[in-house]
Amino acid sequence: AYQCGLILNLRRFLLMAKQDVKDLDWSNLGFTYRDLPYSYNEEFKDGKWQNGGLTTDSTLTFSEAAEDLHYGQEVFEGMKAYRRKDGGINLFRPSMNAERMANSAKRLAMVEYPKDKFVEAVKAVVKANQEFVPPYGSGGALYIRPFMVGTQPVVGVTPSDEYTFHIYATPVGAYIKGLTPMPYMVSEYDRAAGAGTGQAKTAGNYASSLLPSILAKKEGFAGCLYLDPREHKYIDEFDGANFYGITKDGQFLTPKSDSILPSITKKSILQIAKDQGLNPQEARIAIDDLDDLVEAGAMGTAAVISPVGSLTYKGKKHVFYSETKPGPVTQKLYDTLFGIQEGDVEDKYGWVVPV
Ligand code: PLP
Ligand code: COI
Repeated sequence: AYQCGLILNLRRFLLMAKQDVKDLDWSNLGFTYRDLPYSYNEEFKDGKWQNGGLTTDSTLTFSEAAEDLHYGQEVFEGMKAYRRKDGGINLFRPSMNAERMANSAKRLAMVEYPKDKFVEAVKAVVKANQEFVPPYGSGGALYIRPFMVGTQPVVGVTPSDEYTFHIYATPVGAYIKGLTPMPYMVSEYDRAAGAGTGQAKTAGNYASSLLPSILAKKEGFAGCLYLDPREHKYIDEFDGANFYGITKDGQFLTPKSDSILPSITKKSILQIAKDQGLNPQEARIAIDDLDDLVEAGAMGTAAVISPVGSLTYKGKKHVFYSETKPGPVTQKLYDTLFGIQEGDVEDKYGWVVPV
């Protein structure tokens, strides 16, 4: 019993151990969780939000019957804070994350977290943890994860009357390293149903992508691409990013589908692509028409813009521009987007929000 107590105490100590900034190797951050000094927490009960704020507590405690543990009432967001050359810090279109989280919450029959408070809370978390925003030029960023869960104890399948909104932040390197093309396969599984929760950023969509992703990795792929769940004919998206392709005549195409996440990176790239004369279109992209595409890539907060080197469908491998080098259109879109985010390229759209 004594040993058991010692181990429990040690475990508690280790769980509580906060990340020391001096122990970080900025050029090798990976994409992992580190327990930073400050998080944000706010609870919803008795029909209203209870004035949350910064907290040093990074552990959440729920009833064993909490709604989200059984019936999945959970929504989340992913965003980044970027270090500028002048040492300042930028957020990228944070009000769009607030908006999307409200839409996700609606689909999951959850309460909305007020959008203006969302942006203020994100800024507060970044400011409080600012020494953890990786240096300019390191390729890293502070990843911010706002989320909301239904916490009421329920047995029947009903929405919760109580919620916790929480934000943590963690320094990350590139999710997919640099502009290195990666091999993907088309999955036979679906991540979301046709009229399901594909447009919501909710845990279940990611849970359903875990097995297909492991299977793809076992076969040597970086991950998988999903087809539309109704007909399995058109490209939908990756498990954590939207898809784009560049046609032979230089047009930027990205899937139009009601089962994909409305990506903020995608919306931004559609605008950039328009200004670069790529005549961008959201359209259905048939998986049988891959020969029309000379470049392809993944777009998202974590992925930024990441070239797809090849796509294997039903055992047949299609190589896009190159399996080792990014294509010129991909490179230019990346340079513009990341340049705006880091503050090196003029932000004529008003997307960047200094912290
Ligand atoms: N699609 C999925 C399934 C995602 O998880 C993400 C990441 O958030 C994206 C697309 C890209 O969205 P965003 O550009 O808003 O990060
Ligand atoms: C993001 O890009 O923020 C994501 O959520 C993708 C993935 C890490 C789930």
